[in-house]
Amino acid sequence: MNQPTKEAFLDDLILSLGKGWSLLAEGALNRKSPFHSLSVATISGKLPSQRIMILREVNPDKRILRFNTDMRTSKVSDISLSQPISVLAYHPEMKIQMRLSGLARIETTSEAADTAWDQASLYGKRCYLAQPAPGSPVSRPTSGLDPLMEGRKPEAEEVLPARKNFGILIAEINQIDWLYLAHTGHRRAEFRWNSQSRDWDSGWLVP
Ligand SMILES: Cc1cc2nc3c(=O)[nH]c(=O)nc-3n(C[C@H](O)[C@H](O)[C@H](O)COP(=O)(O)O)c2cc1C
Repeated sequence: MNQPTKEAFLDDLILSLGKGWSLLAEGALNRKSPFHSLSVATISGKLPSQRIMILREVNPDKRILRFNTDMRTSKVSDISLSQPISVLAYHPEMKIQMRLSGLARIETTSEAADTAWDQASLYGKRCYLAQPAPGSPVSRPTSGLDPLMEGRKPEAEEVLPARKNFGILIAEINQIDWLYLAHTGHRRAEFRWNSQSRDWDSGWLVP
């Protein structure tokens, strides 16, 4: 009789952390991955506020996740120069949940923001043309776009005015709660970035 496959990372903290980061890195590249669209939470006034965002770039060495955003949205004012952030991901196939927290910052005029803008598709850039700003109350249902811009691929010149509304959200992760669901026994681990040793402190938790 076949034994159920035991994931190599099941009882290994370093492999578990590596697995988590590699799933995130894949999520940024593969739009079909469940780690492509993540829940991103900020503190909005006194209340937490979550929204789905597309994960655009991952740098495990720098512990960075990058998302794109409209500069006029409330998450940008929540974060301002630097504020705490929490990112939630669940991969149903791998049965892995990751809760990542750290500090977020917003950039709009940096080289990284320029590169992210260059990499965005014309359809993606078009979203940043919305008028009035995202979240503004309006009297009728609207996409916020000029009807002439809808239902077709915009020209490069047409999306140029959108650049001023575009920014990137950089989340520098310093804490990860990792949960793996297995019928042989769940596993949970925590990883905390140690800025003195410049490495992750890690340990198992009861799931
Ligand atoms: C599938 C999906 C992907 C989204 N991707 C992004 C994104 O990458 N960046 C973004 O700012 N908003 C994205 N949104 C919209 C946000 O969830 C949110 O509605 C919007 O940014 C306003 O959020 P805020 O007012 O809390 O800042 C996405 C929504 C969905 C449903």
